[in-house]
Amino acid sequence: MSFYHAYSLAFAWHAMSIPFTIAAMSTELVQRQFGMHVQNYVASADHAQGERLERMLALLPFAPEWRVLDVATGGGHTALAVAPFVREVVAGDVTIEMLVAARRFIQSHGVSNVTFEQAEAGSLPFVNGAFDLVTCRLAAHHFLQAAQFVCESARVLKPGGWFALIDNVTPPDSLAAQHINAFEKLRDPSHVWEYAASDWEAFCLAAGLTLRHVEHHHKSLDFEPWCDRMSVPALVRRQLRVLLWHAPAAAREALNPQFSSDPFTGPVTFTFGELLLIAQRPPASA
Ligand SMILES: C[S@@+](CC[C@H](N)C(=O)[O-])C[C@H]1O[C@@H](n2cnc3c(N)ncnc32)[C@H](O)[C@@H]1O
Repeated sequence: MSFYHAYSLAFAWHAMSIPFTIAAMSTELVQRQFGMHVQNYVASADHAQGERLERMLALLPFAPEWRVLDVATGGGHTALAVAPFVREVVAGDVTIEMLVAARRFIQSHGVSNVTFEQAEAGSLPFVNGAFDLVTCRLAAHHFLQAAQFVCESARVLKPGGWFALIDNVTPPDSLAAQHINAFEKLRDPSHVWEYAASDWEAFCLAAGLTLRHVEHHHKSLDFEPWCDRMSVPALVRRQLRVLLWHAPAAAREALNPQFSSDPFTGPVTFTFGELLLIAQRPPASA
């Protein structure tokens, strides 16, 4: 086994063994991690642009009277994009600093039909049937209780209401999934678990939602800006590069790392799988 192979395995195991306990994956960890990097997410080009966001908007049958909940709104990019199509958007997030920044960001665009509420995805503080649409983009891999989040979304939807999810996904291969999750968690300790698309489909079915549309995409990321967003220290960046360089075959195929020169100092791009899933709570008469 080469030095770098041993090195990468050691760090993969280290990252995986950062205890996946309730304590380590706590809400406080998310709040601390995102609370410290609020402006990076508001300013993030990856979050502001989002082809999938445009696609999601095109697929949903918006009506002007709709009330929408955007779960884990982060910098508020999804709430801002949805707001022109509906009566009201409630932007929820567990991190107060994020809500403050999202409000400033959305109000700076002259948008006034978005309200802001602290809301944890696994225990949404809203009555049954309060919304016509629940959205959640690029956040669910932080949720301790992903299946419970889908159940909560179904509960707060009106009969006939819509659920729209965009999130990073892993390939079905278990080793690839573990490697990619180790890679993500090493970069961001508040990362919990990135699921496969089939897991999300199963969560929706278990929550009583009907799948209406599922799309699989790949998005290319520049390694350094991805690390910058979470202020990743230089040593950890090297460890992450090792995990890319020595990824097991199925993970390497999914991550598709492209090293332009020296793998430990030069520019790197890699790919994440991304899922766009739209489901519907059955109408009352169904
Ligand atoms: C990457 S940002 C979300 C990006 C945003 N949805 C968008 O479309 O641009 C992730 C957000 O998830 C929030 N978050 C993480 N875990 C959460 C949870 N269990 N409940 C609610 N929000 C959570 C974080 O506070 C953070 O603001």
